[in-house]
Amino acid sequence: MTTTFQGQTGLELDERAVKALPRGVAGHFSPQVNWPGSPHFIARADGSRFWDVDGNEYIDMMCSWGPIVVGHLNPQVEEAVARQHAMVDCGPGPAPVMVDLAERLVSLIDGGAWTLFAKNGADVTTLAVTLSRAHTGRRTVLVANGAYHGSLPWCNPNTQGTVPGDRESLDYFDFNDLASVEAAIDRHPDDLAGIILSPYRQPPGGDQEAPTREFAVGLRELCDRHGGLLIHDEVRTGMRMEFGTAWGEFGVTPDMSAWGKAIANGYALAALIGKEEIRGAASEVFATGSFWWTGDAMAAGLATLEVMEREDALGSMREWGTRFQEGLAAAAAARGLGIVVTGPPTMPYARFEADGDDRALNDIFTATCGKHGLYLHPRHNWFVSAAMDERDLDQALTAVEAGVDAVANADVG
Ligand SMILES: Cc1ncc(COP(=O)(O)O)c(C=O)c1O
Repeated sequence: MTTTFQGQTGLELDERAVKALPRGVAGHFSPQVNWPGSPHFIARADGSRFWDVDGNEYIDMMCSWGPIVVGHLNPQVEEAVARQHAMVDCGPGPAPVMVDLAERLVSLIDGGAWTLFAKNGADVTTLAVTLSRAHTGRRTVLVANGAYHGSLPWCNPNTQGTVPGDRESLDYFDFNDLASVEAAIDRHPDDLAGIILSPYRQPPGGDQEAPTREFAVGLRELCDRHGGLLIHDEVRTGMRMEFGTAWGEFGVTPDMSAWGKAIANGYALAALIGKEEIRGAASEVFATGSFWWTGDAMAAGLATLEVMEREDALGSMREWGTRFQEGLAAAAAARGLGIVVTGPPTMPYARFEADGDDRALNDIFTATCGKHGLYLHPRHNWFVSAAMDERDLDQALTAVEAGVDAVANADVG
């Protein structure tokens, strides 16, 4: 393979990384959970594409795991960041743009009266849980089974290094199953502080599941009846389901919603947005961080929202994603392969019906797509950005054809 990045191939960087970093590239970026040969080190990215250090070019259908929503290096976002950076990024106080962005967010998000900023999704999902307890004076928070809210001790999918106390006041229910929510509430009489869930179920490597109207409306009613707060984790779905709150179509407004990833097109920014009644608790709880107030990310956030609105980014992402989903389903059907394509068009995922639990066919499919310049992950939903155009769609569907061919010819299990 050609070496294009300062004389270092991906393999050479890997060798250095495993010595200087635990497991080398770790967490959800870990190659151990990705297709064999997947790129580990990224040299640069622009628009809908990125280039790894070995000079391979890919359409970025992971959108950097969600944050890139209007394209890498979007000119308007970059210009806003450069302008802000020339004034101040990390100052002894926030830049004025923080107020502009907070005002924009509360006007955009249904029921929103205030915003608290942070950096990562986990900062604000955790803050939401804390505020639900501070506001209600209760302890129990219900969490959907299998949901991901970050890698902090209360919500980490692994339990190494955590103690039972980290999860002591949590209980669990199943998405789209109101009876399981009621049962969980009954196990903790008069102690419901809140219910946190993502508005769309996106299990790792599993079929994605849309909420039913009955579930959405019923959850709101249960929260109201039992005095707990409804918390939406919009970290992944934010700006990709609706340009606003995800359950708006059901007339359901959460009491608080946690946002991250896409709201600043790749700049580190998260936001918790809440209703007026919770302003007291939100004012009293001590929540801050060295980098939570930086101006560049706020400027990026404001510009990202402007670009999204002006260019109807969500509309074009939906159209692109729908055509991708249809093309993928048709390619599989043409070869007689059973495929389950799920998710909103802006966050598609697919698995082959014949696949076992280890997703061997998805490994083959995504690796083949990768070799044809389409970057997908075998066990995580994919993301569409507004930078993806006709040329990207043509190339993506050509890669998909090669991917389903490889699956059709595969001899697994
Ligand atoms: C639904 C959801 N919530 C929370 C998080 C945590 O966000 P972060 O990784 O920015 O802490 C993620 C990250 O993937 C997520 O998908």
